[in-house]
Amino acid sequence: EEVDVVVVGSCMTDLVSQAPRLPKAGETIHGHRFFIGFGGKGANQCIQAARLGAKTAMVCKVGKDFFGDNYIQNFKDSGVSTAFVEQTAEAATGAASIIVNDAGENAIVIVAGANMLLGKEELQRAQAALEKAKVVVCQLEVSPDTSLKALQMAQQNHVKTIFNPAPAISDLHAGFYKASDIFCCNESEAELLTGCPVASVEDAGRVGLELLKRGCASVIITLGPQGCVVLQSKDPAPKHVPTTKVTSVDTTGAGDSFIGALAFYIAHYPTMPLEEMARRANLIAAVSVQTTGTQTSYPFKKDLPTELF
Ligand code: RIB
Ligand code: NA
Repeated sequence: EEVDVVVVGSCMTDLVSQAPRLPKAGETIHGHRFFIGFGGKGANQCIQAARLGAKTAMVCKVGKDFFGDNYIQNFKDSGVSTAFVEQTAEAATGAASIIVNDAGENAIVIVAGANMLLGKEELQRAQAALEKAKVVVCQLEVSPDTSLKALQMAQQNHVKTIFNPAPAISDLHAGFYKASDIFCCNESEAELLTGCPVASVEDAGRVGLELLKRGCASVIITLGPQGCVVLQSKDPAPKHVPTTKVTSVDTTGAGDSFIGALAFYIAHYPTMPLEEMARRANLIAAVSVQTTGTQTSYPFKKDLPTELF
């Protein structure tokens, strides 16, 4: 069966505490709610693309444990192909401890576990899917070598690539830029990668140019309530794409909603201008911040205005 969007990336069980504020080092505070959800940047992006109508497959590794079994069922319930989802007894399913404050901001610690055991062999088994997809999406919650290899396999076969360098590492291999049709990160990741502060739309434009020079075909820097900045090598002037103002309840995974939406548009509307895709993806991510959780807050096609399709 043909797949539009292949995501090579992470699955995490999100353990979420809502509290008035983020605790300081050594401090204990009372929270008001706890819940467990399906997360991990890779899986989040895949689920959002699927909810918009893309045919998706996930290439990932979970543990042979309760959380792993549950995660595979979550993919099946969402219509994501699990042909390349593997289970290992060598490590536990990835977990993310998340604290969300009353402003909807978060702090996250991830323990990647089984995600780090996704390697070249698993990519070989998914080779046909990676080479025939319309778009391949990668992040940095699995081994960077695996992400880079997946992007290169796709690119060599003229499959569009989206790379989300999250969580960012300061010594990112130069090959990632060349292997990215779209290099998409948020302001703090852009800052870490370039060493330049990103406090405004103008800063994002400047830093975006620096990232573009490193060899990617286009760069998108997401800016939360400010929308995003889009740059393309064929016309490198930074373009600010603003978004609508909403009240944030929980911004966790909003960037993943944006990237999943972008992957959907590339697969289904390949000739749409990138700025227009970004404008629509902004609006979809804005829906996600208005309810709690990551995947639980991602909209389905049927709940969105028809102008987005
Ligand atoms: O981007 C949000 C995600 O980051 C969460 O779902 C959590 O699992 C962490 O990986
Ligand atoms: Na949300």
